[in-house]
Amino acid sequence: MQTERGARYSGAAMLLHWLIAIAVIVNWRLAEGAEHGSREDAAALMATHKAIGMTILALTLVRLAWRLAHPVIVRTRDLKVWERVLAKTVHVTFYVLLIGLPMLGWIASSSFGKPVDWFGVFQIPALPVGRSEDTGETLFDIHHTLGGIMVWLIALHVAGALKHTFWDRDGTLWRMLPFGTPRA
Ligand code: HEM
Ligand code: HEM
Repeated sequence: MQTERGARYSGAAMLLHWLIAIAVIVNWRLAEGAEHGSREDAAALMATHKAIGMTILALTLVRLAWRLAHPVIVRTRDLKVWERVLAKTVHVTFYVLLIGLPMLGWIASSSFGKPVDWFGVFQIPALPVGRSEDTGETLFDIHHTLGGIMVWLIALHVAGALKHTFWDRDGTLWRMLPFGTPRA
């Protein structure tokens, strides 16, 4: 769908973008903190990491459903081909990781036969996967690696958003915020 210049994302898309962005960054810091903290701290931090991770999974499914129902205003002008391809690739990879990372975590926990506790409110049951600690550990290793890749992609994504907004002055950042002038 293509419409006039200067269009921004819908309010729901913005809300979900920023909620998920904050949750992802908090989750990354929690996992890092757990890696470098004491045993007891690590257990508590990881419990929160898992609960937030499952929340991100649910929010991402809502976000994707919303996006499919409300196609985004594409911008065809101002962007060079490589910029468009790079941005698109990063965005698609984000969606894959926002689903893939928590799914991997959930399946890995399930391989240990463990449900995921959601902030002490309820338990998300283990998936019916075979019980194998080796598999669980391998999946957590993959999760760890992909999580690291996500962090680098976030740095690239933020650099791109800032470059467009303050260097190219094409108003990209305001497309994802309810104020400012999204000229792009
Ligand atoms: C979108 C959601 C999630 C994100 C962005 C995310 C991100 C990360 C990152 C970046 C790390 C590595 C941290 C480091 O460098 O030390 C990590 C580790 C870990 N995550 Fe997640 N995670 C998510 C969801 C989950 C879920 C749902 C679970 C489990 C149910 C989980 C369980 C773990 C565990 C156990 C580790 C430690 C793995 C290891 O180092 O061997 N994560 N996560
Ligand atoms: C931290 C985790 C973040 C994730 C996972 C994330 C993910 C995404 C995704 C998937 C899109 C594409 C939306 C769509 O078309 O459906 C997007 C767009 C956008 N993001 Fe983020 N984002 C994050 C953080 C940030 C931050 C910190 C900024 C600001 C500096 C930002 C600025 C933007 C902007 C301006 C757009 C719209 C780009 C355009 O108009 O093409 N994002 N983000």
